[in-house]
Amino acid sequence: MKRIGVLVSGSGTNLQAIIDQVASGFIGAEIGVVVSNKPGVYSLARAQAAGIRTRVIDHRLYARAQDFSQSILTVMKEEQIDLICLAGFLRIIDPLLIEAYPNGILNIHPSLLPAFGGKGMYGHHVHEAVIASGVKYSGATVHLVTPETDVGPIVAQGITAVADTDTPETLAAKVLQIEHQLYPRAIKLLIENGLEIDGLRVREKITK
Ligand code: GRF
Repeated sequence: MKRIGVLVSGSGTNLQAIIDQVASGFIGAEIGVVVSNKPGVYSLARAQAAGIRTRVIDHRLYARAQDFSQSILTVMKEEQIDLICLAGFLRIIDPLLIEAYPNGILNIHPSLLPAFGGKGMYGHHVHEAVIASGVKYSGATVHLVTPETDVGPIVAQGITAVADTDTPETLAAKVLQIEHQLYPRAIKLLIENGLEIDGLRVREKITK
C-alpha cells in the first residue's frame, strides 16, 4: 500500500478530510507521517487522534532553507513515503525535496490557478484579491509541485460562484468546502489510477 506524508502549518481541515477518506477506504493508501513546521498547531492533534505519527520540523531553527527541506526529506525517506501532500503548508520547499519526489508532491491552493497564485498569495490574501478583481467564479486547485510557486501541472479543480455579498471570509469558507472534496479525489486519482503528465496537462490514464 502506498504511503502518504502530509505537510501542515495550521488547523488542518484538509488534513482531516484526507484522514477521513483514508479511514473510509476511499483513498487506498495509508498516512505514514504528518509533519508540521510549527509546534502546537491543531493539525498535530488531529493526526495524533487518528493514531498517525507526527513530527515537528521548526523552520526557525534552520539558517538555510535547503537544510529545512533536507530535514523534511530525511523524515519522508525514513517513513518510506511515496506521495507528499502539502495541506495548508506555508513554507516554500526547496528544489532538493521536489527533485527527490518527481511528480510526487501535491499542493492545494484556494483559487483557480493560474489566477491568484504565486508569492504572497496565500490565505486571506487570495480571497481579498479575488473579490477586488471582480471575477464571478473562484475555487480550488490541486496541482503537482514544481520549483516555481503555484504553477505546476493541475490535477483537479473545483469552482464556486463569487456572490455579490461575499466577503473574503464567506468566500474562504465556500472554497474550503470545495477543497475538502477535491483534495481526497485528486490524491485517489494520483495514487490509484496513475496520471499521464504531458507538459502542464495532466490526464487520467486509460486502463483497458
Ligand atoms: C487552505 O485554504 C489551503 O488551500 C491553503 O491553506 C488553507 C489550509 O487550511 N493552502 P487547513 O489548514 O487545511 O484547514
